[in-house]
Amino acid sequence: MCGIVGYVGKKNAENTLLEGLKRLEYRGYDSSGIAIVKNGKITSKKAVGKIINLENLLSGKNLDARIGISHTRWATHGKPTEENAHPHLSCDGNLAVVHNGIIENYQTLREELKKKGHKFLSQTDSEVLAHLIEEFYEKKDLKHAVCEALKLVEGTYGITAIANDNSDEIIAARKGSPLVLGIGDNENFIASDVAAILGYTKQVVYLNDGEIARVTKDNFEITDLDDRKIDCEISKIDWTLEESQRGGHDHFMLKEIMEQPRVIVDSTRGRLLPEEGTVRLGGLEDVEAKLRKIERIIIIACGTARYAGLIGEYMMEEYAEISVEVEFASEFRYRKPILDEKTAVLAVSQSGETADTLAAIREAKRKGALTLGIVNVVGSTIARETDAGVYNHAGPEIAVASTKAFTSQLVVLTLMAVLLGRQRKMSEVTGRRIIEEIETLPKKIEKILKSADKIKKLAKKYADYPNFMYLGRKYCFPLAEEGALKLKEISYIHSEGFAAGEMKHGSIALIDENFPVFAIAPKDSVYEKNISNIEEILARKGKIIILTTEGNKEAEKIADDVIYIPKTLEMLTPILGVVPLQLFAYYIASYKGLDVDKPRNLAKSVTVE
Ligand code: F6R
Repeated sequence: MCGIVGYVGKKNAENTLLEGLKRLEYRGYDSSGIAIVKNGKITSKKAVGKIINLENLLSGKNLDARIGISHTRWATHGKPTEENAHPHLSCDGNLAVVHNGIIENYQTLREELKKKGHKFLSQTDSEVLAHLIEEFYEKKDLKHAVCEALKLVEGTYGITAIANDNSDEIIAARKGSPLVLGIGDNENFIASDVAAILGYTKQVVYLNDGEIARVTKDNFEITDLDDRKIDCEISKIDWTLEESQRGGHDHFMLKEIMEQPRVIVDSTRGRLLPEEGTVRLGGLEDVEAKLRKIERIIIIACGTARYAGLIGEYMMEEYAEISVEVEFASEFRYRKPILDEKTAVLAVSQSGETADTLAAIREAKRKGALTLGIVNVVGSTIARETDAGVYNHAGPEIAVASTKAFTSQLVVLTLMAVLLGRQRKMSEVTGRRIIEEIETLPKKIEKILKSADKIKKLAKKYADYPNFMYLGRKYCFPLAEEGALKLKEISYIHSEGFAAGEMKHGSIALIDENFPVFAIAPKDSVYEKNISNIEEILARKGKIIILTTEGNKEAEKIADDVIYIPKTLEMLTPILGVVPLQLFAYYIASYKGLDVDKPRNLAKSVTVE
């Protein structure tokens, strides 16, 4: 997820762009840049890090332009460096482009363009757009050139482009990555979302997929890529700036929960090979031969990321037949882990900066193990220091409580289980079955999200209980722990997750009518066993919420409340099951009026040991 802002009008363009970028900083800020046109010449400036660095770079430069485009980057391909920051320029410097999204066929396009003599300065997928547009720019018609270029592109984009000899217009196009036009008085704006332009105008036009806009200071026209005119509707925005950054939701946590269908698409994009019943993970290609030889994986992580790792353990053991252990990163270095050339150490971390996980990876490296990462933040320390790895592509996670990063970690762990499994004994049919099921997950999550109001009512009913127990078996045991962690960290209600079968060995003593239990019992291979544990709780007058598979009417007969999720493969159940648990915790905390996005005593990235 990156942020785009474009401006054409009567104001100072660079100041307007900087203001807009600052309001999009929540979309990611590993680097930023602007390009303006003045006196028939494009000038571009870029800086690594927060937007303040770009502001410092521009101060005193007095570019004083009236048209420009800009970008704040959340890296997906290539490290967060100045070369990889946007805008990207054509070889002759006459065109500048900023892009949000992922160009899936960028490697093929890049090779073809190189053969035609184009020189690439960055490692990004986005730079191909600048060169591709240059190829079609011989008639000096920027919109035509952008249309022709985009016809060759596979993947997603929100782009804006400017050219030195069309110094009064910005071209903007969208497929999969949002763009909105802001309609002003003798000035117009383009941005990834309304937060960037709310300070200037409330009148907007949302671009739809497949649409392209030519925007000048006093006009705009929208067509498809074949130049067919599209009638558009002007909407009026009545959000405050803060509301708009949260996409109209009350908290970032809710926004991030709601984003999960999109996150699954992004974390699998270009990686699924259903025909061959396998996956392509570019970040592991260099170590594929080594991966064939490993016999053991140690997963190291903390908190929510560790629960994802525990679910990954079940997946890899069942489908890749590799022995897996999951360690608390904070404990790893105090043990004497037995590592050899047949062991890989895999760090799972949203931020890629967690001190304990980093220390564990360094220790594993020192002992000569192959180190791997599943990391969300591109270019973070863990991503840089591991031998190889896979990015989640979940986009920036702002709320302290991790939600969409967890689901994307589970998706990537599934992909790794398929990759490792197919290197070993997993059949093509099994691989294909898993991939086909992964492809259905976004729709299934959307369905769960539609029942958010029901979970909200349930949250109200249970908000005043001081304790909660979460139970699950097999794939849903770590999920029970994650459900309990979500609840305790944002609502401050004491909650614990247990393996359902373990409860009778002590913890069941806690149960009475004031200690509700959240039992995660999908219709899977351990369903009957779960029901036996639920009966044990009922016998002690415990209150029960059951999370189970659609169509399981039996649950309604025994539980106080039932939440349904769609059917899926047992290994993928946590990806669906976590969504109601996140919503339940979220609504309880918001009923209590707590600071959901910034719970007390916690930090988003724990960089101390
Ligand atoms: C809980 C949560 C934490 C993190 C943990 C690891 O909602 O967010 O438990 O999962 O601090 O952080 P990363 O994944 O950044 O290493």
